[in-house]
Amino acid sequence: MAADLTDAEGIPAEVRERAVTLAKELEEHRFRYYVKDAPTVSDAEFDTLMRELEAIEETYPALRTPDSPTQTVGGAPAADMVKVDHVERLLSLDNAMNDEQLDEWVDRLHKDLAGAEFHYLCELKIDGLAINLLYENGELVRALTRGDGRTGEDVTANVRTIDEIPVRLRDDGGHDIPELVEIRGEIYFPIAKFADLNAKRVEDGDKPFANPRNAAAGVARMKDPRTVAQMPLHMIVHGIGARRGFDIDCQSHAYDKLRAWGLPTARHNKVVKTVDEVKEFIRYFDDNRNSVEHEIDGVVVKVDEIPLQGRLGATSKAPRWAIAFKYPPQEVNTKLLDIKVNVGRTGRVTPYAVMAPVTVAGTTVAYATLHNQDVVKAKGVLIGDTVVLRKAGEIIPEVLGPVVDLRDGTEQAFVMPTHCPECDSELRPMKEGDVDLRCPNARSCPAQLRERVFHLAGRKALDIDGLGYVAATALTQPLEPAEPPLRDEGDLFDLTVEQLLPIKVLVRDPKTGMPKVDDETGEQKVMSFFANQQGEPKKAVEVLLEGLEAAKKQPLWRVLTALSIRHVSDTTARAITAEFRDLDRLANATAEEIAAVDTVGPIVAEAVVEWFAEDWHREIIEKWRRAGVRFVDEGGAEKVPGALTGLTTVVTGTLVNFTRDGAKEALEAEGAKVTGSVSKKTDFVVVGDNPGSKYDKAVALGVPVLDDEGFAVLLADGPDAARAWVAARAGETPESADEAAAEG
Ligand code: IVH
Repeated sequence: MAADLTDAEGIPAEVRERAVTLAKELEEHRFRYYVKDAPTVSDAEFDTLMRELEAIEETYPALRTPDSPTQTVGGAPAADMVKVDHVERLLSLDNAMNDEQLDEWVDRLHKDLAGAEFHYLCELKIDGLAINLLYENGELVRALTRGDGRTGEDVTANVRTIDEIPVRLRDDGGHDIPELVEIRGEIYFPIAKFADLNAKRVEDGDKPFANPRNAAAGVARMKDPRTVAQMPLHMIVHGIGARRGFDIDCQSHAYDKLRAWGLPTARHNKVVKTVDEVKEFIRYFDDNRNSVEHEIDGVVVKVDEIPLQGRLGATSKAPRWAIAFKYPPQEVNTKLLDIKVNVGRTGRVTPYAVMAPVTVAGTTVAYATLHNQDVVKAKGVLIGDTVVLRKAGEIIPEVLGPVVDLRDGTEQAFVMPTHCPECDSELRPMKEGDVDLRCPNARSCPAQLRERVFHLAGRKALDIDGLGYVAATALTQPLEPAEPPLRDEGDLFDLTVEQLLPIKVLVRDPKTGMPKVDDETGEQKVMSFFANQQGEPKKAVEVLLEGLEAAKKQPLWRVLTALSIRHVSDTTARAITAEFRDLDRLANATAEEIAAVDTVGPIVAEAVVEWFAEDWHREIIEKWRRAGVRFVDEGGAEKVPGALTGLTTVVTGTLVNFTRDGAKEALEAEGAKVTGSVSKKTDFVVVGDNPGSKYDKAVALGVPVLDDEGFAVLLADGPDAARAWVAARAGETPESADEAAAEG
């Protein structure tokens, strides 16, 4: 057996073979990552392969040859670029994956430094492209990529176009510009600008990038500096290489000097004394990874004192005075199995990605909204692609881009359906120029009806026990009987036990929403929702009928919320009913009269008038009236101030569901102040496409940023919900995503 064969060094043939295979694979992946800017595996997968090789070499040190990927750095420079040697070699970093490994490194430091006092310099580990700038007498003479650490690619012309990198160091009055200094740092592409970059590339027929890191590397190495000059590349300095005429005692002090000379240093660096403080820094940025405008994959901890760095020295690959504490990955690669569409409460048709389920940032993800057909196109993804999926902690999962190099030609472009997948009506935009397509069959499209029924039973509306999502589906689109008991929400309060008992529904997997299949027969599982095996009513019947009875006595604002009028959240409904107190009065009011309600603007008022103008809506009202639903609030209900009173907000960029004025109005309708500039006092920045510098400022100041969907949550559920928006949506299905967005 092969495993028994050992060579002269006592290494089993199988192990040696595995080590060779791993080394080859790792070199190939490095080539793709560093040279082609188009890796085909995620960082996590790469790390797993690397750790396997390290473990083998740990057991069989003879395999640890100097050219092993465990002993070398980066990738060879690309053949078609000019190669230049670094003055001083660029090393890599050793990793700590957990606190224990960090503690081991610290123990080792204490041992090697034999009681010498030192400080830790904590920095973010920027996930970008390593770069080495050579300044001679203050002039930027060369910019090189890291390459294999000894030789890099010359990207001077491109780097010169990056605004924040000075082509000449500024004399800060100290007249101490060194004769020579190598400045090391990371070039990055801001996460927020990434989607636009891919959209433009797709439009121009270029391959989209898989993620912001590849974008930084790809752009920095482009052939034409004029193109690079158009790009929002940034740099952060994180080290010094060779130097002549520059004496430094601490790395942190060196950064102060570099900043004074005009170089871009990190804002988040922190010098601390104890390892507990180091761990606090690590925890803080693990929790706040998304407050930083670039991707980070960990924290780099360094001994701050330069003489001690010298005493500690380096291995062939990495310094002993620094370590990278790695965070769990936020990006994984997975297969895009399909792109489906979901029809929401207001008929908006939203494409969403169906992916091979993967675990990322602590949850299993199988779906991600793709917003609309323009977004699908802009991302450049095809059905069948391997895609990079990003899930940043509590933030909703997002498909970043395709791994183009893994395509085999069988991938298919997504085609937006022309007809509603649930009722076959022809889809169309609500207004000319809208990117969103809608199903116009508001009354009886089963999807819209199901979502409306689910909404009207919700906590913020009639709060009906026994009417959750499955029950809403059972009432509007049961498998049996063929005719659902509800054709619209008008008959809701007239439901009878006889109507409920025959209802059968598909059994679905709560996690994926997919119908469950019987292992033996291969058929979809079906169950009676309201009847037991003897055909008698289950408890669900009583709960639902009692819930409906109780709902008839709910206050008027809940009834108004339950009607699914566009822009009318529960808070708006409270404001309106506090003024009108009678549904019939509201139904007959003009837009001007409704807009006269404090915090209600003309867009909301118009939506209310339009709703009551529809005949079938009036029929719902009449049926509910006959069923005994309360349409009048007795007594003077206290006027409730808008839920966003006291908040300061900023709106920037182009939103999908609102014009800029519409968004402002909706915010003001809820009592929020809308200002033109972002400051530390801003509570939320609502950001659409092409947001510009206000977005950057919000990120820099750590102000919460909401996109269209987050904005819908803010309007519907208030500031706490908006802050927890992401948390609430962890593990969401596209239905709930659309429901949140449908509020707009
Ligand atoms: S110090 C000799 N500090 O991470 C030590 N590196 O995985 C050199 N990186 O090659 C690195 N952020 O390109 C350092 N704050 C930071 C960093 C950082 C990102 C990159 C750097 C390095 C790679 C190692």
